[in-house]
Amino acid sequence: MSKLPKVTVVGAGFVGATTAQRIVEKDLADVVLIDVVEGLPQGKALDMMESAPVEGFKAKVTGTNDYAETKDSEIVVITAGLARKPGMSRDDLLLKNAEIVSGIVTECAKVSPKAVLLVVTNPLDVMTYLAWKKSGFGTKRVLGMAGELDSARYAFFISEEANCAPIEVKAMVLGGHGDQMVPVPKQTTVKGKPITEFLEPARIEAINQRTRDGGAEIVRYLKTGSAFYAPSSATVRMVRAILENRDEIIPSCVYLNGEYGLKDVYCGVPAKLGKGGVKEVVEIPLSADEKSALHASAEHVRENCAKLSV
Ligand code: 2OP
Repeated sequence: MSKLPKVTVVGAGFVGATTAQRIVEKDLADVVLIDVVEGLPQGKALDMMESAPVEGFKAKVTGTNDYAETKDSEIVVITAGLARKPGMSRDDLLLKNAEIVSGIVTECAKVSPKAVLLVVTNPLDVMTYLAWKKSGFGTKRVLGMAGELDSARYAFFISEEANCAPIEVKAMVLGGHGDQMVPVPKQTTVKGKPITEFLEPARIEAINQRTRDGGAEIVRYLKTGSAFYAPSSATVRMVRAILENRDEIIPSCVYLNGEYGLKDVYCGVPAKLGKGGVKEVVEIPLSADEKSALHASAEHVRENCAKLSV
């Protein structure tokens, strides 16, 4: 019998299935993959399990359409919802995905009352706030994945510019997961050296903008869907930090209660993640411009939250 923790992934689309795959391939948890479409999670889970003899993982993934099978999950990752089409912003998904996420959270909170909810569905910050409201859970147990993805994109673009390995870049992007996200160049380093010391401001701004447009760039290529490799990697890093109580500081969409001068809003900032979800919101020094950009981004999240009846 496997003694691994249990993680539910809601949504068996590209992000959900790839997240499930990365979790079992790393033997982090047994995964229940759930979707409303009959056969889809079952088929993908079986296909993944048939790769186990080759890949050598011991974790199990099962597919289902029944929330009863997700009972007592330690983490519930919510990826279900509509994805963007070319020309759409993440905000265009608001009302439809709010309906989908509300239903999912209600079901999951019933059968896994102690779970951490990790939201991936867009528009991310608003869906995370909605999940918190609908679940009735404490704020520490409800968070969203975005900053790690945006920071990973920023790091990759910088690694190409600096001609170094992506892993040698430590990047930081704050704010909501939208057009107003806030890359922080002074906190972004290559081999420990801030990029502001060796890249021209105009180059940095061009990379900042490519980062803000990072999701849309992939949507333009794919045409019928959005990114899933980097989003699932970022999600699984957060899942691992929580399951293994790593106390890792990861840019995450978390509830702010006065930190950075923001209150009662979900927004992307660095947070220490471990058992139980968010252990601490980490405040880093920001310039006046960065702080006002963060506030503008949070205000945008707040306006969209107000469009929902929660
Ligand atoms: C992205 O940034 C879809 O929001 C997702 O790729």
